[in-house]
Amino acid sequence: MWFELIHRASSGVLLLMVLALVIIALRGLPVGHPARKTALGAGAIAIVEALLGAGLVLFGLVAENDSTARAVVIAVHLTNTLVLLALLSLTGWLARHSGVHIRSAGTLGIALALALIGLIAIGASGAVTALGDTLFPAASLREAVRHDLSPTAHLLVRMRVIHPVIAIIMGAFLIMLAGSVGRAVERARRAATFVSVLVIGQIVLGFVNLFLLAPIAMQVVHLLAADTLWIGVVVMAASTWMEPVALAAATPIETDIRAAKIRGEVAQAPRGEVRV
Ligand code: HEM
Repeated sequence: MWFELIHRASSGVLLLMVLALVIIALRGLPVGHPARKTALGAGAIAIVEALLGAGLVLFGLVAENDSTARAVVIAVHLTNTLVLLALLSLTGWLARHSGVHIRSAGTLGIALALALIGLIAIGASGAVTALGDTLFPAASLREAVRHDLSPTAHLLVRMRVIHPVIAIIMGAFLIMLAGSVGRAVERARRAATFVSVLVIGQIVLGFVNLFLLAPIAMQVVHLLAADTLWIGVVVMAASTWMEPVALAAATPIETDIRAAKIRGEVAQAPRGEVRV
């Protein structure tokens, strides 16, 4: 179908863009900078992502295939996407600083780790729900609920009920956690507010999705909001766990050269040195 083609083409473009990011990070950042490591990690995970996608096609886990293997690979695929997004977000976050100090965040740090694991569980269960909705579409909400609760229904249909339940429990936990982080860590305050607003928005979107029987446009919006929420939680956790070291201050000579450049008094010498 046309959207499968779009997915494959955009995945190819994404892979090239991530590899370009790796080259830029390795060339532009000093040896030992943490963003080099996260960029390299993103490159490796992007390759795994492409292999997982290729595996789905090669093993016939597409179209009407309703096997447990397909559900497992779909959940692993979404988990891998979340890890890739986390590494890309961390690369951007870390590149703004010249380094970071890891700080002991105590109970808050442990709660953030649990939140990240919980969000992966929500995402993976959501991916299985989406598969169930695609393979076994219902004509009405009443019929969908009857099938979900029927002991004779297909496993993918019976599993649909898990996602909203864990999403609501984890959503409440995330809102409380974001409140605590916002109060305790000044630099994580913006990310924490963003997370609280997005959790509420995402739960509303989930219910709209349910009532409209998950049309494709709503699925895309719900997935986009899930990815954005995940990035917000990653940045909130990074800001709590790590103390950024500001970019090195310019030396007095560099400051003089910059000021002269602004005044138009600097000319570039043929061999590359700066003449003021
Ligand atoms: C923090 C809250 C939530 C997160 C992070 C979340 C995340 C996700 C993700 C990642 C998917 C898979 C999308 C895909 O692969 O296409 C999904 C699917 C789904 N979710 Fe949620 N969800 C949340 C809350 C809810 C709630 C509260 C409901 C319902 C009451 C819900 C209903 C659905 C449905 C029906 C699907 C399958 C259709 C689709 O793909 O959109 N979600 N969710």
